[in-house]
Amino acid sequence: MGTALKIEHINKSYGKKQILHDVCLETNTGEVFGFLGPNGAGKTTLIKLIVGLISLDEGTISVCGHDVEKEFEAAMANIGGIVENPELYKYMTGMQNLKQYANMRNGVTKERIDEVVELVGLTNRINDKVGKYSLGMRQRLGLAQALLHNPKVLILDEPTNGLDPAGIKQLRDILKTIAHKEDVCVFVSSHLMSEMELMCDRVGIIVRGTVKSVQTIEEMLKSIDTSTATYLYKVNDAEAAKIMIGEKYPAYEIACDGDSEFKLTVTAENANELIADVNALMISGGIRLYGVQRQESRSLEEAFIELTDEGGTQIA
Ligand SMILES: Nc1ncnc2c1ncn2[C@@H]1O[C@H](COP(=O)(O)OP(=O)(O)OP(=O)(O)O)[C@@H](O)[C@H]1O
Ligand SMILES: [Mg+2]
Repeated sequence: MGTALKIEHINKSYGKKQILHDVCLETNTGEVFGFLGPNGAGKTTLIKLIVGLISLDEGTISVCGHDVEKEFEAAMANIGGIVENPELYKYMTGMQNLKQYANMRNGVTKERIDEVVELVGLTNRINDKVGKYSLGMRQRLGLAQALLHNPKVLILDEPTNGLDPAGIKQLRDILKTIAHKEDVCVFVSSHLMSEMELMCDRVGIIVRGTVKSVQTIEEMLKSIDTSTATYLYKVNDAEAAKIMIGEKYPAYEIACDGDSEFKLTVTAENANELIADVNALMISGGIRLYGVQRQESRSLEEAFIELTDEGGTQIA
């Protein structure tokens, strides 16, 4: 494992509009790094800067120690990527596409071509015309193409867009294999936390052009509050129930949701016993208890939306 991308203090504007603000990130070979942010956050812009499609205003990017501006060719030799759609010729077979691409790169052997075809699971269909491929197969051929020259960094901009659940799982497994077995840094953007959770080792969150956090998935899961549990009650008189419970258990939060519903938030640890006591209290106090339901605890996706929503939704 070594440093793959080193992104330092990047600023980028389109015209007068600043898109990226002092972006710093460091990624390693051997990891799937997720770059997560809502639409318009600046993911594609950063990716275009990394692969040298647009130029930097300020800051530096290096790929395996090579500066993208000062040592462009050395930096690019270490990068493979698909930005937006892979460029493929539909009238050629998968293999012909790969050979054509290999001819433009130095030192791609026939063995390497076979290796990447196998890696992306296209061995059986590689001699079919690309025009007959499904979207998922085209994605995987694009991936094979991007891997031909043995790059240490693979950059993919929202690679699961348009794929069905089976295709997404297949791609996810391939990307993990590439990172962990071939010691490549797979840098993948997405706007879905749930997807990142299943695919990535670490995730950097970008909101309105600013990197908000970089964490491992484990750290992220830990940071979600699981210490409390909320129960939704249906009763005949929510207000009376609230007063009754509040007198006996002043430490817990109770919020009425209309006349016949309220939510009770308690410490998760001893929730079961406490809820049994609360129910007994209400019934003995003459409240009609129609139902109790434990609410799902906050998911990663909700935590992400909360993080990206602060300050209101951006209109890009
Ligand atoms: N060529 C351009 N000229 C002017 N503004 C641009 C250009 N490309 C992107 N932008 C603006 O930069 C901002 C970031 O766009 P970018 O495509 O990087 O976002 P993104 O995170 O990739 O979003 P998405 O999830 O929708 O792909 C947006 O406000 C967008 O309108
Ligand atoms: Mg984008």
